[in-house]
Formats: sequence, C-alpha cells, structure tokens
Amino acid sequence: MKKNDFIKSVSIMTALAFVAAPVVDGMALIPQPVKIKMEAGAFTIAPQTKIIYTPGNERLADAANYLASRLSLAFDRAVTPEPGDAVDTVPGAILMTTAGADPALGDEGYQLEVGANGVLIRAPQAAGAFYGGITLLQLAPPQAFRAPAMVEGRPGGTQTVPPPRPADEPNVCKTEPVAELVVPCVSVWDQPRFTWRGLMIDPARRFWTIDELKQYVDYLALHKLNKLQIHFTDHQNWTVEVNRYPDLTPEKARNAADPQRERNQTYYNLARHYYTQDELKSLVDYAGKRFVTIVPEFEMPGHCEALLRGCPEAGCTIDSKKANNGEVCPGQEKTYEILQGILDEMLEVFPSRHIHIGADECGKGNWKKCPDCQKRMQDEGLKSVTELHGYFVSRMSDYLQKKGRTLVGWDEILESGAKPGAIGMYWRSGTADELVKKAADHGQFLVMTPTDHCYFDYWQSPEKTDEPQGFGKSVITLRRAYEFQPLPDHVRRINPKLVLGVQGNLWGERLKSFPHALYQTYPRACALAEIAWSPEPVGGRSYAEFYLRLGTHFKRLDAAGINYRRPTLIDKP
Ligand code: ACM
Ligand code: ZN
Repeated sequence: MKKNDFIKSVSIMTALAFVAAPVVDGMALIPQPVKIKMEAGAFTIAPQTKIIYTPGNERLADAANYLASRLSLAFDRAVTPEPGDAVDTVPGAILMTTAGADPALGDEGYQLEVGANGVLIRAPQAAGAFYGGITLLQLAPPQAFRAPAMVEGRPGGTQTVPPPRPADEPNVCKTEPVAELVVPCVSVWDQPRFTWRGLMIDPARRFWTIDELKQYVDYLALHKLNKLQIHFTDHQNWTVEVNRYPDLTPEKARNAADPQRERNQTYYNLARHYYTQDELKSLVDYAGKRFVTIVPEFEMPGHCEALLRGCPEAGCTIDSKKANNGEVCPGQEKTYEILQGILDEMLEVFPSRHIHIGADECGKGNWKKCPDCQKRMQDEGLKSVTELHGYFVSRMSDYLQKKGRTLVGWDEILESGAKPGAIGMYWRSGTADELVKKAADHGQFLVMTPTDHCYFDYWQSPEKTDEPQGFGKSVITLRRAYEFQPLPDHVRRINPKLVLGVQGNLWGERLKSFPHALYQTYPRACALAEIAWSPEPVGGRSYAEFYLRLGTHFKRLDAAGINYRRPTLIDKP
C-alpha cells in the first residue's frame, strides 16, 4: 500500500472506537493486543531514526538492542540504540522507557504510542518494552521481519539445512531490504494473559544444532512466547555435556540402533550429538536477550536408557540381562548422588527458576523385583511402586527447592510426591480431573499442554498427503490449535489461578530437518501465541477473524524466512 492510501485508510479507521484490534492489512497483529486505538497519521522509521532508552537498566538496553537489530536487518544498515534521559516523546525518535509507566501493566505489559512526531514505548519492566518493540515491528510492513536465517550466530551465514522438498521449504530469506518503514499512528495498551507461554523442542530424538535452537528462540520472541523447554535427554540420547560423567556423551549414551542417527549424520555431518556447556551458555544468553527462558528438561526416573548406558550404576541391581527398562533405581542412594550431581552442574548452566525432570511414562516393573527398591518401600512405608515414584519426585523436588529452583514435571508428578509450588504439565487430557483437584489441594500449578490441541508433531490435516510426516495418526488442524481452551470448565471451577499458562510440544521422532520442525510448529504456534497472550473476547474467539489476520502474518513469516504450512481447503473458516 502506498503511504497516502495508507494514511487515508487509517483516517477511516479513526472513526472506530477504542476496541479490540480491528482487522486491517498491515495491522493484523498476532497475538492480538488487549486494546488498540487507531489514530490519524503515520510515523516513518528510517535507518537514521534514533532509538533511545533510559540508561541504567541493562535489560532495557537488551530490549532496545533487539529492536535495533531487527531494524538493521530490515534496512540492511546498522541501527544502534543510545541511552538518553528523556521521559516523553522525542521528536523523530523511538523512546523506550520505564519512567511513569502504569503499574497495572505488570511485569510484561507495555503502552505503545505511535504518533506522527515519534514513538513512545512505556513499560514498568524491560520485558514489556521488548514486547512493545515486537508490536511496533508488526505494525510496520512485513519487511520489518526481514532476517536472513541465522547460522553460526551470523545472519546470512551458509545454510546447513538440507535441500528443499515440496512441502518442506528451507527457511531462507528472499525479502529485499527496505529504505524506510511506515507505521500507522496507534495507541496500544497491552499485557499477557498468562506468564507461561511456551514451546518445547526435543533434541534427544532429533538433534538440532545450537544455531537452529537460536533461530527457534528468535521465532518464539517474534510471537511474544517466553519459554523454550528443551527435552535434552531420553532413551535415544543424552545431549548435554556433564564433566563429572564424560561417558554420558557422546558415544556411550547414544543409541546405535536409533534410526534417527543415520539421518542426523547425513544432514549435518556432525562430529558429535551433544551440546557443550559453553554452547548451552551461549544459547541461554541469546535467549535471555530475547526475553525467552530456556527451561531444561532432564528425564527421570523413566525415559533413562541413554543415562543408564553412560551411568549403569544408576540402574536397579536385579539379576537379568533386561535389568533396566530405562528407569533409574529410586531405591539406592547412589542414584540420587548421580542425578543430583548432574543437576548441580546443570544449574550452573541454566539460570531458569524452573527445572523440568520429566517423570512421565515411567515403567515401574523392575522396581517390584529390585531388592533396593523393595527395601526402600519397606523403610519408607510406601505401599506401591507409584508411591515409590512419588518418593523419588519428592526428593528431587526438595533438592531443587534447596537450590532455589522449582520442579516442573509432566502431570504424573501430581499423582504423588511433588511439593507445593511445583508445576505439572497437563498433557494427558483424560485423567486430568482428579489430578487438577490434587494440584489445588497441594498448592501446585499447571501448564496446559494437552495432546489434543498442543502436540505440534501431529499431522495438520486429515488428508496427510500434502504434508511431510506427522506423528502417529492424530491430527491437530490449525483450527483445532486455535480452539484450545486453556481453562476448561472443571479447572475453572476448581481454581482458574492454578493455570500459569500454555505450551506447544514438538517431539522429534518423525522430524526430518529443521525446516520440517518449523513447518510443524507454524502456523499452529501463532494460534498458541494468541491463546497465551490475548484475553478471550466475550462470546469467544473467532477463528475466521484470526485466519484473516494470519494472511498478513504469513507475509511476516515469509520475510523472516520461517517455514510454515500453507493453509489448504480444510483450514478455511
Ligand atoms: C509425553 O508426551 N510423554 C509427555
Ligand atoms: Zn531399584
């Protein structure tokens, strides 16, 4: 749209009242802000436009730097922010400040005023200023999202991804830089619905390079998502360096029979399939600058075959070749010494308050035969192996609490064992009612990530012919992802405050390439981002209206080089 036409259409829009954001091409925001009011006029951002931030707040500098870095990519010219003492609109500039911010905006909320004279982003905390910057980028034309794919920490580096396949295009950027970005004048007041707005990725099944993880983080940030859970360990592989147990990486812990292994080597030709602690620290730092927390997941007491290949002494000592089915032994002290020793190192790498221990799908058959497990049950008065599982979770929960961290696990942790404050990830839709009551009774919290709306490794269309491989037979269409209700009636009745947020999970078993991972994630993560951030309007969300905004948002994804599934007939409202 030309600038004059644009201003004309904005003027017409001005007649609209202060309402939930209207749908206008170029202003179709995802996630939808709480309130947006269109004003007359426009502001032009150019490479020489100053970005000023209040000094003395390192995190605010991070927010300003990120906005500047995106603009640098859009213009292909360096844009550098500068500290400055202004507390109100600076003519011709973009100002980010915490001064005078409305405390009701909370830790992540912001106000954004785009006037013909300048842009003002005011937020009580730096995170809010960061999200104000993302909204500003979305208000601009899609080229504001321009970004050659990040490889080895450099934009525009050589692609390490495989060649494209029909439904699985590489995430390369074909968008040309622009000379300026014209942004309509608006007034936005915005804050998130939930504090936990997450995605999960699974390098234990399908290894991703650290640069791919960084790209994934970048794409979360552009959708105002703030947690990336990384499923670092499982039966197939242990992907983090642990100095005190070098046998955990690389060869001993990796399953030579894993068919993914050959594929991984073909695609990446990597010498190793784990992350060094230095690489992980660089990821944590990269994510932190984008206001994304890396929540590490180390699976225990089940899903531990890889751990047991590297540290067999953590297994049950029963007299059988099949001594372990992938569970550690919760009976012997040695197991706690090993696992807590590993966590000690990991807590140095991951500053996240939340540490995920998995604890799902634990086969407990060996525990019935293991003398150490049986003795532990007798000594502690535990009546079943489920209670033994609870005992294990309780000890890990205590341990993390002493270190100032909070345990997160899949919803099996709510069956028994977890301490007040712990977070259970509600993934098994069927058994939830009873567990929700337990969580409420025990002062625990929930993150909603049910298989029927939030498993992004599932197919996206029932036809299954026009998309690369999904997991199993289940289908989660874009519409279904958008219709996810994070506060189902039974939870609402028990206590809606139990729910800290939502998360989409991308398991790795069927993924062939990084573009495939993105294809599975988007646009369903756009739907999730809206559920995570935007209040539910009276009368419910409209998929048709979301779908319309998505049309504009796809242009942003194209500019950013984010691969995604193009909707087909079945996705039409
Ligand atoms: C899970 O899908 N096993 C949490
Ligand atoms: Zn045992």
